[in-house]
Amino acid sequence: MKHYIFFLAALLALPALANRPDSVWVRPDIKDGARGLQVAWSQDQKHWHHIATNVFESDYGPWGAQKKMWYPVLKFDGKKFTATFIPDLKQREVGRTESADFILWKPQDYDLISTDADFQRIVSQSKADSQKPLRVPYIYIKALQEKKALREANGRKEMENYVATGRHFAEDCAAINAKLTIDWADKKNISPDLMGIFFEDISYAADGGLYAELVQNRDFEYTAADRKDWNALTAWRLEGEGLAVDVSTQAPMHRNNAHYAQLKTEKVGGSIVNEGFDGIPLKGGDKYELSLFLKGAGAIKVSLREAGKVLASTTFKATKEWRRQSVTLKAAADAKSAELVIEPQQRGELDLDFVSLFPKDTYKGRSNGLRKDLAETIADLKPRFVRFPGGCASHGNGINNIYHWQATIGDLWERQGDYNIWHYHQTRGLGFYEYFQFCEDIGAEPVPVLAAGVPCQNSGRGGYEGGPQNGQQGGIPFLKDLGGKPSPYQYMGKDLTMESYLQELLDLIEWANGDAKKSPLAAMRAKAGHPKPFNLKYLGIGNEDMLGDTFMERYRFLIEGVKAKHPEITVIGTVGPFWEGSDYEYGWQEAKAKKLEIVDEHYYNLPGWYFSHRDFYDGYDRRGPKVYLGEWASKGNNVSNALVEAAYMTHLEENADVVVMSSYAPLLAKDKHYSWTPDLIYFNNNEVRPTANYYVQRVFGHNAGDTYVGSKVDVTVEKSSSDAADKKKSPSQEDLERGVRDRIDRSVVVDSKTGDVIIKLVSMLPKEATMTIDLGEEVAAKLSNATSKKTKKSVVASIQTMCGGNTPDRTKEWEGEKTEKVTLTSPQLQLSVAPYSVTVVRVK
Ligand code: AHR
Repeated sequence: MKHYIFFLAALLALPALANRPDSVWVRPDIKDGARGLQVAWSQDQKHWHHIATNVFESDYGPWGAQKKMWYPVLKFDGKKFTATFIPDLKQREVGRTESADFILWKPQDYDLISTDADFQRIVSQSKADSQKPLRVPYIYIKALQEKKALREANGRKEMENYVATGRHFAEDCAAINAKLTIDWADKKNISPDLMGIFFEDISYAADGGLYAELVQNRDFEYTAADRKDWNALTAWRLEGEGLAVDVSTQAPMHRNNAHYAQLKTEKVGGSIVNEGFDGIPLKGGDKYELSLFLKGAGAIKVSLREAGKVLASTTFKATKEWRRQSVTLKAAADAKSAELVIEPQQRGELDLDFVSLFPKDTYKGRSNGLRKDLAETIADLKPRFVRFPGGCASHGNGINNIYHWQATIGDLWERQGDYNIWHYHQTRGLGFYEYFQFCEDIGAEPVPVLAAGVPCQNSGRGGYEGGPQNGQQGGIPFLKDLGGKPSPYQYMGKDLTMESYLQELLDLIEWANGDAKKSPLAAMRAKAGHPKPFNLKYLGIGNEDMLGDTFMERYRFLIEGVKAKHPEITVIGTVGPFWEGSDYEYGWQEAKAKKLEIVDEHYYNLPGWYFSHRDFYDGYDRRGPKVYLGEWASKGNNVSNALVEAAYMTHLEENADVVVMSSYAPLLAKDKHYSWTPDLIYFNNNEVRPTANYYVQRVFGHNAGDTYVGSKVDVTVEKSSSDAADKKKSPSQEDLERGVRDRIDRSVVVDSKTGDVIIKLVSMLPKEATMTIDLGEEVAAKLSNATSKKTKKSVVASIQTMCGGNTPDRTKEWEGEKTEKVTLTSPQLQLSVAPYSVTVVRVK
């Protein structure tokens, strides 16, 4: 986008374009319900020329069903363009935006029209006006044409399969020799926290995933709001005869856990069975904590069973009031897919709620803990921070679905579960306490990211109370806008307003960092098991939102409110969902104007984009806000995706004076429940499958530094004289060497804690290269020191390699990872760099 602006500025600086009219007619030229506004221009209003590129696109409501426009009306007052459009003929709303240059458009707002009659009048008027041409300076048309050309060029680059376009190097090059020279005089401090993780409950990442609970719908709180065909008995079924089950809300144990099961036994022998999340996996000999609430008179037998075989069982006697009972069970044998069977032992009625089964062997042995194998796989990335709880799960699908951290702490049965924007249910058993504890357990900074008082712009629910139900056009109301009336939105029994929402953010900081002896909020944290502060440093506000007026007003209010009370907290702002465009530009303008410390960038692009944008951050202003690349991935899990991500990461390291944090997204996806692909780690109940992309993140997590050292790579290529190379038009020596050079990326960092020099090499070449690394004087000095002291000490380098095989664009796994140790005798280290590989040389 910056290119277009630059181009327009250059155009506007010209007095006039030679042989071009000063001004022309322009009018909207789209089909009803199109995604974007396109225009046609004319000199005489007879001959119209369509420009096949979107001037701007409707950002209204969910993808698929929405993001459309009818009857756009364009206006120009000599200085500014304005545009209105109808985003949905059935909703009483009008979209609006504006632009000073016809290229960069303001993030949209949608005005609610109070009556149907008024709306119909506006629709008819818009229909008529949308065909009226307006006169505009020709330079805007020219700029739009240039924008189209740039978009097409970018699109071509993005579509490039760098593996296919680079295969010829194997034939063209008989030998590749490269030399990496380190320039120890060229050093800069970089962020040691570059690699972190993005955790969101998407694709069953939390419930049914990292959160170790094995009973699904343990509290009978599933509803059709979670998924159309779900209800309070989803994942439960009756078996045998004589037992009936009702769901009641008459006398719940807590208002946040309103539903419970009433078991009515006519004849003993029937049972109610929970299927778990795709079955219940058990390990023979392992212990499990089974707990439940059982009210009434009588007893139940609870067993764990697979294929008719009982692997553990126990009985519970009911109590008069709701009371938690628990017992430890030992599984007699392994089970891939067991069930939990509850069998009343006599006739009569019993109330049952919150049936839970947890492995004792959770990550770090925590109760209400995390699945060990998954948590270990995550911990092994050595992430410096964990972002949670989303993603879209933070800002939610509609105002009522905005994430409230306070609903996720305390006793499990008092937490408020909710619909998950990814179309299932969140128990919030993995809540803020558990997230913070996990961060501490893996030595990562907690980075909560919460909504900016607006829901996701792609929402399909709850824009306005009682009004149209789409998108972000509504926000949590300010007290001033309520005029003394109660808020239409409630949260944990209280009115939800922007003022109360700001207080929630302030309470989070107090809860995490306060003194447990002085602050009641901090005392809650202590009661949960963590008397010491969690030492929260970051707070993200907003998640890739649409940055219209509704958003901006709330975003500013929250940032100012947090900063006023907690200047010590680093606030992370947002700049939309893409690497360019309206939200990106307006987000950055705002961040610079308000001197925000960090902004959160997101982009999911094709490998070709990363390949052609490795210099993306080279031109970023070093004096402005820093970047947290909070969500990114190249679209795919092939080795070629991972490899280009590795190459991009070397450039992130090079720019880690401005890009201070990054996290691949999403992190986890459970088989059969993918809401989104690609992901970093796939899993099911019985296995964990890290991807090729995972191993790249791991390499960077294990080999981070805090100083970046300049280096250069020189390449010499011995051209091939083979038939194949001769037959086609062979590139010149210079072009060949430039091409080869472009496919070797590197970064050199120093970790000051260990003093290690770490060199990462990424080869996107189909051919092996011989690489000489000149480690320079610093290492030479250490070497002579080591030998002169006549001690056994020597300078050792470890060389870790991962290779991509011959078809990295189709292969999903690295070909073996190997690490070898070499003792250096000279500062010149020679190694062979395998085709399509990532190599890490770590000099101790
Ligand atoms: O990472 C998956 C989703 O992508 C996130 O929830 C959202 O922020 C982004 O659009």
